[in-house]
Amino acid sequence: MRPTNAVINLSNLKKNYINIRRKVGRAKVMAVVKANAYGHGVKEIVNSLNSLKGSEPEYFAVAICDEAIELRELGIKQPILVFEPFEKSEAENVIEYKIIPTVFDDLHLNILMNAKRKFISKAGREIKIKVHVKVDTGMNRLGIKFDKAAVFIEKLSKNKNFLIDGVYTHFATSDEADKTFANLQLKRFNDLLNELKKRNINYGLAHAANSGAILDMPGSYFDMVRPGISLYGYYPSEETSESFPIYPVMSLYSRVASIKEINKNETVSYGRLFKAKHTTKIISVPIGYADGFARNLTNKAKAIINNKIYNLIGRVTMDRIMFEINDDDVKIGDKVTLLGKGNNLEINAWDWGKILNTIPYEITCSISNRVPRIYKN
Ligand SMILES: Cc1ncc(COP(=O)(O)O)c(C=O)c1O
Repeated sequence: MRPTNAVINLSNLKKNYINIRRKVGRAKVMAVVKANAYGHGVKEIVNSLNSLKGSEPEYFAVAICDEAIELRELGIKQPILVFEPFEKSEAENVIEYKIIPTVFDDLHLNILMNAKRKFISKAGREIKIKVHVKVDTGMNRLGIKFDKAAVFIEKLSKNKNFLIDGVYTHFATSDEADKTFANLQLKRFNDLLNELKKRNINYGLAHAANSGAILDMPGSYFDMVRPGISLYGYYPSEETSESFPIYPVMSLYSRVASIKEINKNETVSYGRLFKAKHTTKIISVPIGYADGFARNLTNKAKAIINNKIYNLIGRVTMDRIMFEINDDDVKIGDKVTLLGKGNNLEINAWDWGKILNTIPYEITCSISNRVPRIYKN
């Protein structure tokens, strides 16, 4: 096996999940495991959460139908919500695999009704398709606009083909310190729910809270919350509170593969972006941008080796990176921590995020399949 791997700490995952559950009290939890559980490996993440007998997530959520089918094929029994609208070609699978689609227009309802007709003639039994309605309260990405939603949901509630299992919205700024806009979205959603109650419409479970809202907007928990990044041990931004502790689940390790001495003024890697100021030693480490070690970390990332921080030097290449070790007693085979903790040192996805102008979400999702995941309990 290659010496480069991502260690996935399942006990941190469970601690994060339990802390989220504690924080949200009686609300159900829909664990967001899209994008291969934010790069952590969906099979092991869902199995680990489901091992918490009696407090398993009530729902799972993914982005696309293929991810939901993967969960069904893994034997996951909980309801699975798909956030993204489905393609026409996926409608029969939605029904067959008992996947809950997100709906917010007649086009998708019609596609589902057609697929249902075919399904009934095959299966020979009547069914109702469970759906969650997405309401756009200001994100302006997906969903029926909040001021049109009551009419749409009322009409849907009278359609015998469907069962409205949930109604939800998504915050654009719940991870920002200024909650003015998030509170406006919350108010629009609350107004809609009150209107639905007034019209006596059974809308199932109301849900809105992503990690930012779970941390800072207890008024947004409703019947269920939808944590993603906090499960994996990162706060969604540096502006939220840290109102419960969480611990990064993914670490990234490799080993020193080679050591060489270079003279003053010699350069390292493509483009010769590092020039030695003096005679020095450099090591190479077998990971590169094909593994998700972004090329823009060139000359900027750090590594922990034998509990000391070293600077990455020169361009990140597809399969290999280099560090300057000067005269230190580093040996071939020594462990290189690229994301994770040494004794009292730590490099985390925020450190990369600051260099790359991004957030931990993108960092963990980008660690490619070429990097074996090793699961630790
Ligand atoms: C609709 C929806 N809900 C919940 C989440 C989880 O968000 P977070 O990872 O910030 O907790 C996402 C993630 O993007 C999402 O798209």
